[in-house]
Amino acid sequence: MAAEVIDGKAFAGRLRERVAAAAAAFEQQAGRKAGLAVVLVGDDPASQVYVASKGKATLAAGMASFEHRVPADIAQAELEALVRRLNADPAVDGILVQLPLPAALDDQAVIALIDPAKDVDGLTDPNIAALANQRPGLFPCTPFGCMLLLQDRLGDLSGKDAVVIGRSQLVGRPMAQLLVNANATVTVAHSRTRDLADLVRRSDIVVAAVGRPEMVRGDWIKPGAAVIDVGINRLPPAEGEARGRLVGDVAFAEASEVAGSITPVPGGVGPMTIAVLLRNTIVAAHRIAGIPAPAGL
Ligand code: GUN
Repeated sequence: MAAEVIDGKAFAGRLRERVAAAAAAFEQQAGRKAGLAVVLVGDDPASQVYVASKGKATLAAGMASFEHRVPADIAQAELEALVRRLNADPAVDGILVQLPLPAALDDQAVIALIDPAKDVDGLTDPNIAALANQRPGLFPCTPFGCMLLLQDRLGDLSGKDAVVIGRSQLVGRPMAQLLVNANATVTVAHSRTRDLADLVRRSDIVVAAVGRPEMVRGDWIKPGAAVIDVGINRLPPAEGEARGRLVGDVAFAEASEVAGSITPVPGGVGPMTIAVLLRNTIVAAHRIAGIPAPAGL
């Protein structure tokens, strides 16, 4: 039986509508718009596309957008000074430094400077601690978006066996933590994992976030499993194609024969990341202003 294809684009659209309503109410109460600042270092084409769409989505939600594009050869001290200015700016509720940074820069030192109250990426130590200790905080956008999709599809995740493939700072690690907090039994797999296929075969929930095109095969999937594909990989162009196809970390056609539900690439997890970024920004704005955030965000 074919899997239900999880429509992340539609789900993200509904979340963005709730954020826009909350942003309008916030502006009424606070007498100012909520604001998101995005810092883009250098001119990586993929990052430019992401940053432009973040700016557009921020404005569409009725929030203020501040884009800071700085050259790839910016000095560490200058970038840190920019983050300090954004920390101090009362018009800014959220700060996102687009990653990866050029290799000459110390990304962890830059992240550590971000005011945790404005850390809408959930990457600072206080927010990681809040996630680990189940306290309120701001949590990474992509894994949070994956959780919303899983909980919408499956309801309670208690006792489910989950595998997270990948242990990155932005996705794998926080994803595992969120699943543990939701009472799933979680295994984190990575490049040294032995017999990944066998592990995946025992899992009710599969979150693939490795960046390897179509690595997870259909015959690895437990019948009925929920499959969340975080990968966005561009294949080399085939004959007659100007650009290669975008594929995930999961072989979609095969896996959707076996899974109970599965996210497509594109149109699955991708749109959720920006929607959750907007959600985190409006939540941060409420906390900073001392106004209770509306429920359902
Ligand atoms: N680069 C790719 N995804 C992300 C993200 O979610 N946050 C940041 N800061 N950089 C990214």
